[in-house]
Amino acid sequence: MATQQKTKAKAKTDGKGPAKKGGDTLSVTDNRTGESYEVEITEGTIRTMDLRQIKVDDDDFGLMGYDPAFTNTASCRSAITFIDGEAGILEHRGIPIEQLCEHSTYLEVAYLLIFGELPTQPQLDRWVYDVTHHTFVHEDIKKLNEAFRHDAHPMGMLLSSVGALSTFYPTAKETGDPEERYMAAIRLIAKMPTLAAFAYRHSMGFPYVYPDNELNYSEDFLSMLFKMENTFEPDPRLAKALDILFILHADHEQNCSTNAVRAVGSSDVDPYSAVAAGVAALYGPLHGGANEAVLRMLRRIESKENIPDFLEGVKNREEKLMGFGHRVYKNYDPRARIIKKHVDEVLEATGENPLLDIATELEKRALDDEFFTERKLYPNVDFYSGLIYEALRIPTDMFTVIFAIPRTSGWIAQWMEMHDDDEQKIARPRQVYTGKRDEDYTAIEKREGPEKITGPPAKRPKLIRRGA
Ligand code: CMC
Repeated sequence: MATQQKTKAKAKTDGKGPAKKGGDTLSVTDNRTGESYEVEITEGTIRTMDLRQIKVDDDDFGLMGYDPAFTNTASCRSAITFIDGEAGILEHRGIPIEQLCEHSTYLEVAYLLIFGELPTQPQLDRWVYDVTHHTFVHEDIKKLNEAFRHDAHPMGMLLSSVGALSTFYPTAKETGDPEERYMAAIRLIAKMPTLAAFAYRHSMGFPYVYPDNELNYSEDFLSMLFKMENTFEPDPRLAKALDILFILHADHEQNCSTNAVRAVGSSDVDPYSAVAAGVAALYGPLHGGANEAVLRMLRRIESKENIPDFLEGVKNREEKLMGFGHRVYKNYDPRARIIKKHVDEVLEATGENPLLDIATELEKRALDDEFFTERKLYPNVDFYSGLIYEALRIPTDMFTVIFAIPRTSGWIAQWMEMHDDDEQKIARPRQVYTGKRDEDYTAIEKREGPEKITGPPAKRPKLIRRGA
């Protein structure tokens, strides 16, 4: 069949889409029909909607992209966080993470992420004042916490209490109202440490400690975690290390939980519910739960002598080296580099931790091993962060909860950007349907098959009592 030139994909010239440059196009020939198409390339991307014009005939729905897990699909345009995974670069609003860790504070970085610029002194003062004076939570949140079992995972508790905040602030559903947005941002950033600390105190059976507005953000969190009598003095070295960890975890572009916040937020639900979706996504061991998994792994390895056997198991795919590998970084995660520097400072204040020796040796051996170098698997942010949390006497179950505290500012910044983006609509991916069609309903007496429920998705447990 002769090749013919078809419609050129329409260029967007309304100023909302990417800037257009002449000549940047992709020519595609559909070998099913022999027809050729031209699709615009802007900012290194094509719009997959432009593929829809590629059809076998008029009844055809049109070509779609298939990209499970979004490994090669940009779901938004964003000006918040830049990552160059090959070079190991991370910048927020253009400022390298190394500079932010050296000169800034977590609350200033939160402002930067949300407002797009570093604050002036009066702006920062106002921002810190507002956050500091919204750290208390409604007393009913305590009752909600008390409904959990003593051994409830604090991340499950946090997920519930963040979702519950939407019921305390119902006007937050006015998502287009700038005042409501500002208050939601302030409340979420301010209350997250309180909710996190309450979850911890519940799990320990300790009385809750209320926020102390005289302390800074990270000192106040340490106080809510550890104060037992009126005399708690947070160690400034530890509070500083925690603040740096907060900066390092504040945002990381379109990761799993941020994507969850954007996707859920795109339904125009209130920001508390959207952020609760982010907390749920972060809970998973492949995302925020990895720091907890790293510590469990290091404890299981037990001593340096067991490292070769452990690595053999990883290479035989019996398990994963937790805290290694990243979807975006194919180089040393810059956050891991910064954390590694601070581990020693923290241990100086708190005392040695034998797990550090195991972690250091494990990293060294993995980076000397072809299995890991060929796959570009390097330590990520979670490889060393758990060691600092442990040194701060924070129990392993709480690690992911602590990740959620600073990531809240990133979630809010991304949620706001999504709302202000005229190109965004309710997130609703397509699917490639692989199931049956045109089946008739069979009456139950005519159905054949084994008595027991078998096969996927069900592997039925033995009939034992598993609780309510
Ligand atoms: N240990 C052993 N093998 C690994 C690991 C690991 N930690 N990570 C990736 N691989 C292998 C994987 O099996 C695959 O090998 P092959 O090509 O032979 O099948 C190859 O490396 C590519 O991995 P992938 O699974 O296609 O990579 P991904 O981009 O889908 O997954 C990841 C990224 C972070 C989920 C994965 O590296 C992983 O599970 N790491 C361990 C969990 C972890 O540390 N997560 C924290 C991520 S950083 C914090 C955050 O963003 O939350």
